[in-house]
Amino acid sequence: MDKKKQRYHDPRRIQKALTELLAWHEKNGRHTLPWRLDSDPYAVLVSEFMLQQTTVATVTPRFAAWMRLFPTIAHLASSSEQEVLSAWEGLGYYSRARRLHAAAKAILERHQGIIPSSEEELLDLAGIGAYTAAAVKAFAFDQRAVVLDTNIIRVLSRWGNLSIPVDTAAGKLALEDLAGAFYPKTRCRSSASALMDLGAMICTAGNPACEECPLMNSCAADQPERLPVKSPRKVTTKITEHRAWWFRGGKLYLQQSQGPRWNGLWILPELGDEKPSGRAVAELTYPITRYRVRMTVYPSKAPPRKGLHSFTRNEIAGLPIPTPHRKAIEAAFRAVAEG
Ligand code: ADE
Repeated sequence: MDKKKQRYHDPRRIQKALTELLAWHEKNGRHTLPWRLDSDPYAVLVSEFMLQQTTVATVTPRFAAWMRLFPTIAHLASSSEQEVLSAWEGLGYYSRARRLHAAAKAILERHQGIIPSSEEELLDLAGIGAYTAAAVKAFAFDQRAVVLDTNIIRVLSRWGNLSIPVDTAAGKLALEDLAGAFYPKTRCRSSASALMDLGAMICTAGNPACEECPLMNSCAADQPERLPVKSPRKVTTKITEHRAWWFRGGKLYLQQSQGPRWNGLWILPELGDEKPSGRAVAELTYPITRYRVRMTVYPSKAPPRKGLHSFTRNEIAGLPIPTPHRKAIEAAFRAVAEG
């Protein structure tokens, strides 16, 4: 074990830091955030979905309005998609609203309306990844979970002076290792909130207020503003491509790629001269060499072009199709089935 690891694994050092952190948090934490006022698991679930890509300031009023409209998971599950999407207005990334709606329905069907507390069962629900599963476990059930969001990653990488880029496999391991040692077995909710609030209020990305930090004495950071270390960004160019959804007589029209990369594989044809209109049936982004391609798929009103071949869904399952197109086709079939 190297020296740094030994240092942060020292249980007395961790214990002391935690005691100081929790005392600071009791006095200074953001206890009035509306989703923290009680620990109703449904309220926690909703807030975590909303906070996935949206700031606390934007989420706060939308959360209150949502809880008035859908006060319980049963209200949410029995509402229409239109009602759910309207209530999401202003938060952006509407797929989160659809996934939250799907998760609510699944919780009613599979868990008798009771939000599960195990990360394994939570991960099985739509829209829940490692962070959200851990957050729900800690915030709703006060059970031990390694909660790692951007704020917490910044605090811990500084506290442990982690020099490995946190966006690499080795960096993630080091971070999980440190977090695993840091999170206590009790006061799980408070310790996750405290780390989060410290990151938002003191251990900020720019200009951290180290002199006010309760962890000042135990923090190992030499140059906190340089942490966390991230891998150098690759320069990528964003492009958009529109693909056509031609589904006629139970069959989908596909084109055999002539391109160098996917030569011979079956792909969704380009929308061509037709302007994208109406709602996309699928939308995804995928990397290819130095590009990030946003692919949208629109139902086409024009007759299928010459040179295309049509396949049943069963036949499609057996065709060689590049992953982004396979994903888009599956998403489009789901979107069409859901109307
Ligand atoms: N409290 C619980 N989860 C939170 C989050 N993601 N952001 C801010 N405060 C929170």
